[in-house]
Amino acid sequence: MSDLFAALSNPRPREDIADGAVLLHGFFRNTEAALIADLRAIVQQAPFRHMVTPGGHTMSVAMTNCGAKGWVTDRSGYRYDAHDPDSGKPWPAMPASFADLAMRAAEQGGFQNFAPQACLINRYRPGAKMSLHQDRDELDLGAPIVSVSLGLPATFLFGGLQRADRPQKFRLEHGDIAVSGGPARLAFHGIAPLADGDHPVMGPQRINLTFRKVQ
Ligand code: SIN
Ligand code: FE2
Repeated sequence: MSDLFAALSNPRPREDIADGAVLLHGFFRNTEAALIADLRAIVQQAPFRHMVTPGGHTMSVAMTNCGAKGWVTDRSGYRYDAHDPDSGKPWPAMPASFADLAMRAAEQGGFQNFAPQACLINRYRPGAKMSLHQDRDELDLGAPIVSVSLGLPATFLFGGLQRADRPQKFRLEHGDIAVSGGPARLAFHGIAPLADGDHPVMGPQRINLTFRKVQ
């Protein structure tokens, strides 16, 4: 698809949501098929599971990872681990379709040479949510977080640097990418409970890919 056609069919391809944070609407359109095929292969090797927080709460979002490191949580805390704790095997490698997309999106957000080491894959079924939190388990806070949405639409809650800052709401649809870094790198964010629905490509779920440079 030409850029001109993309711009015409998507009147607001770029939405600046905060200093350092941007939504790129419809960004992965051209690479959707490869992305979804690679996603299916990852999930076969490392199935989605509901992890437990250090406080003992089972998350409503199911998770898996690909890349050199994966984000995990259990009763002992949050951490990055090179191995899938369920299988003891390394996480599936990050496919080129994932890494290229994340790098191109980061560039559009103003961050050159983004080289993600981890991709956390979140699966939301209707009703699942992610409470407001900061992404602060990474040692390198100079790199942005790149977050790709597939499937059912969601309401992205994007707050400030204090938990009490009232979040703004943005709609995330299939194909949208959020890039947050710089002054927005530690902004509180979350996802409101997913509404019911059946997405024509992804079915009754939302998948989110979150790319991070860990160290
Ligand atoms: C996250 O903050 O890890 C997930 C955000 C999202 O699902 O869009
Ligand atoms: Fe997050």
